[in-house]
Amino acid sequence: MKGVVLAGGTGSRLRPLTQMINKHLLPVGEKPMIQYAIEKLGNAGIQDILVITGRQSAGLFVDYLGSGDRFGVQLTYKIQEQAGGIAQALGLAEDFIQRGQKFVVMLGDNLFEDSLLPMIEVYRTQETGAMVLLKEVEDPRRYGVATMSHGRLDVIVEKPEHPDSPYAVTGIYLYDSSVFDIIKGQSPSTRGEMEITDVNNVYAATHTLNHRILKGWWIDAGTHESLFQASVFVRKENG
Ligand code: DAU
Repeated sequence: MKGVVLAGGTGSRLRPLTQMINKHLLPVGEKPMIQYAIEKLGNAGIQDILVITGRQSAGLFVDYLGSGDRFGVQLTYKIQEQAGGIAQALGLAEDFIQRGQKFVVMLGDNLFEDSLLPMIEVYRTQETGAMVLLKEVEDPRRYGVATMSHGRLDVIVEKPEHPDSPYAVTGIYLYDSSVFDIIKGQSPSTRGEMEITDVNNVYAATHTLNHRILKGWWIDAGTHESLFQASVFVRKENG
């Protein structure tokens, strides 16, 4: 299975730091944020990884990550010219994934404790559709939120004012190449972005959106507060 790490976007919630550098190169503990995603995939046996980033700092990604050799993986890079949304960035991976092939997508600002291996093993045997990973959180309003019934994921609502459940949809997704057909059928949301939640809801509508719940800590390090918290978690993990 291949992996795709999305590291574009504007990082507006981390200004002024992101006026100077891409969010995913900011330090979390002793490493730049992106390294955690690369290592998470590598540790789960995913060695062929596409990194999609914006023009800003693009050279620095290559300077730091290089071919991926140092991390035991093989990296390919692609540039998202404009931050058109997560689904738009993912659409750029189409040439990297063979028809019918399954793959893992990670948002580069998501850090977490669990191993990806068990989820990948389950997804390998899933006949059709996609899988998302959920995490129970105290304030789900910042995230896509899963509406569940009888243990099934019915629909995801993006950043709801009144969340239906405590389950945030994390930025870890498992798809097969059918996702590219779905992306092509989507239009931008009212905020002008191609939303990954709209893509996932196409699967949910046909009851082919499977899910698993993360057990360990999970953080979206996209704000100053959560970036700080991410460093605390990582420090604790490293003793
Ligand atoms: O972290 C989990 C959340 O991530 C989910 O619960 C939401 O459903 C999902 O929409 C997303 O929400 P965010 O508001 O956190 O997304 P953000 O715009 O911060 O983008 C997250 C990552 O996606 C970012 O680290 C880089 C990548 N990205 C984003 C955009 C908008 C791109 O590569 N290109 C883009 O154009």
